Formats: sequence, structure tokens, C-alpha cells
Amino acid sequence: MIAVTGSNGQFGGELCRRLGEAAIGLDLPDFDLTDADGVRQRLSELRPEAIIHAAAYTAVDRAEDEPDRCFAVNVAGTATLAEVARQLGCPLVYISTDYVFGGDATDSEPHREEDAVFPQGVYARSKYEGELRAGAWEKHYIVRTCGLYGRLGPCSPGNFVETMIRLGKQGRPLRVVDDQWCTPSYVPHVAAAVLYLLQSGMYGTFHVVNGGATTWYRFAREIFRQLALDVKIEPITTAEYGAKAPRPAFSVLDTSKYHRFADAPALPHWKDALKEYLQERERGMR
Ligand SMILES: NC(=O)c1ccc[n+]([C@@H]2O[C@H](COP(=O)([O-])OP(=O)(O)OC[C@H]3O[C@@H](n4cnc5c(N)ncnc54)[C@H](OP(=O)(O)O)[C@@H]3O)[C@@H](O)[C@H]2O)c1
Repeated sequence: MIAVTGSNGQFGGELCRRLGEAAIGLDLPDFDLTDADGVRQRLSELRPEAIIHAAAYTAVDRAEDEPDRCFAVNVAGTATLAEVARQLGCPLVYISTDYVFGGDATDSEPHREEDAVFPQGVYARSKYEGELRAGAWEKHYIVRTCGLYGRLGPCSPGNFVETMIRLGKQGRPLRVVDDQWCTPSYVPHVAAAVLYLLQSGMYGTFHVVNGGATTWYRFAREIFRQLALDVKIEPITTAEYGAKAPRPAFSVLDTSKYHRFADAPALPHWKDALKEYLQERERGMR
């Protein structure tokens, strides 16, 4: 049995659907990462074969005002899971983020796993510190991914594709950031890759994102093109958008380490992944 934290969320929910009866989903309110004793007790009772840690404090902008809460969940919570995984001798998979790579847009080569990190902002720093805690247990996988979109969980805050569709249908012109380069990724593709890595026994850090690179503006334009929605959309800069937390200007991830596994699940180009999501959506996924 595999314990999946964040099972009501976008990513953990998909893992649980894929694993079926092999999964034990853990999430708030019954399972709170900030309650270390409760976490220890629950996992010691369950004695899972592996822990996939997909729960996180994910409100990137709110984290700037709630650093203690963000660190309690993302850092201390991960440390507790690493301690329990060590006691049980089981692998721990930590889902991390492209946000560990801050820097500026003068970067132009996709980041490799061993590249120096530069996390900017509370959320990014907490996720990186979480990586260090997870990595303290030797049987760890750290999987960095980016811009996830997939079926939403009951409490999920939403995803970029759904937000664009909702705003686009309101008929007002949209202004979307065009100076952050990354690779939005489709949850089922990343989830399949995570489950593959878990059975590989090859511990370490992996970058797992769809292929290619884009900006949020270009991604939004492609969403509307594929849906044949006529939406006026204007590119703006990160500074014009004015979000509270900093965002990486270039966080494209190099996936060649993952692709060394000849039989690993495919990570299609982001445009094809988007098409798959929109088709699933059309079929009534939600
Ligand atoms: N979404 C992205 O674009 C993205 C990109 C790169 C990496 N990631 C990483 O991928 C993972 C999954 O993201 P996601 O999109 O699935 O996020 P999500 O939909 O926000 O799911 C996160 C889940 O964690 C739960 N959680 C929050 N605080 C908790 C606590 N104290 N104890 C136990 N559970 C708690 C949340 O519950 P509540 O909803 O009730 O708070 C939620 O169900 C996270 O580690 C995130 O950092 C996400």
C-alpha cells in the first residue's frame, strides 16, 4: 500500500485514481502535516510500502504573508515524513517545483537536476528546504515539475487552464504575462512518470515536465486557439502584473535524466498535452 499525501488536491487525487486500492489517501482535516505526532502515529499504523508526498502549502502569493504556516507545512511537514520513511525503511517521493530556479530571463538553457538553485520568495524557499529534508533520507525521489493542470480536487484552488477558460468566456480582454518561460504540465503525464520512477528503484532528483517551453501568454493563446474561443489577449510583463511573490523568469526544466529510462512513460509536447486535457474535459472529466 502506498500512502499519498495531498490526496484531495490536483496531483495527489490523480495518483490515488491511478493506484486505486493500492493507495491510502491522506489529507486535511484528518491528516495535518503540521501535527507531527499525528502524522507519525497514522503512518506507523499504516506501515506503507512507500510515501508519495504531494501535499503542500501551494498559495504562492499568500505565502508571503504567512511564511510560518508555509514553512510549517512544506518544510517541517516534509521533515516529519522523511523521519517516518526512514523508520519504516520505505521510499519517500517529494513533489517539488520549478520555482527552485529563480534567476532572470537571461538564462536560456533548460535547468538540469544538478544546477544551482535560486529559490525566490517564501513558497519557493519552503519547497527547496523541503527538498533538503526529503533528501536527508537516502531512499528519496525529488520530482520537480511545473504549472500543473488536471482534474481539480474538491478543495483545489483551480489551475491556469480553467482560469483562462472562465475569464475568456466572460468576454473581457485579458492581459497575461509573457516574460516567464516554463513548461506547463498535464497532471496524468507527470503522475504516470512519478509512479514509474517509484518502481524503478533509482533514487534521486528528477525533472518531469511536458516537452517544449512557453510563456503564460502563449499558453493562454494556445488554449483559446484549441477551443476556437475568440478572446482578446494582450501580453504584459511580470512587473505589470504585479503579483506579490516573485516568479522565475526562466524555469524550463531539462528532462534528459528522466528520458534515460528507455521505457519511461512519455512526456508529450505541451501543446499535445493541452489537447489531451481539453479532450478529456470535453468528455466530461469534470
Ligand atoms: N500546482 C502547480 O502548478 C505545481 C507546480 C509545481 C509543483 N507543484 C507541487 O505539486 C504538489 C501538488 O500540487 P497540487 O497542484 O496538487 O496542489 P493542491 O491542489 O493545492 O493540493 C495540495 C493538497 O495539500 C493539502 N494540504 C495543505 N496543507 C496541508 C497540511 N497541513 N496537511 C495535510 N495536507 C495539506 C491541501 O489541502 P487544502 O486544499 O485543504 O489546503 C491539498 O489537498 C505540491 O507539492 C506542489 O508544491 C505544484
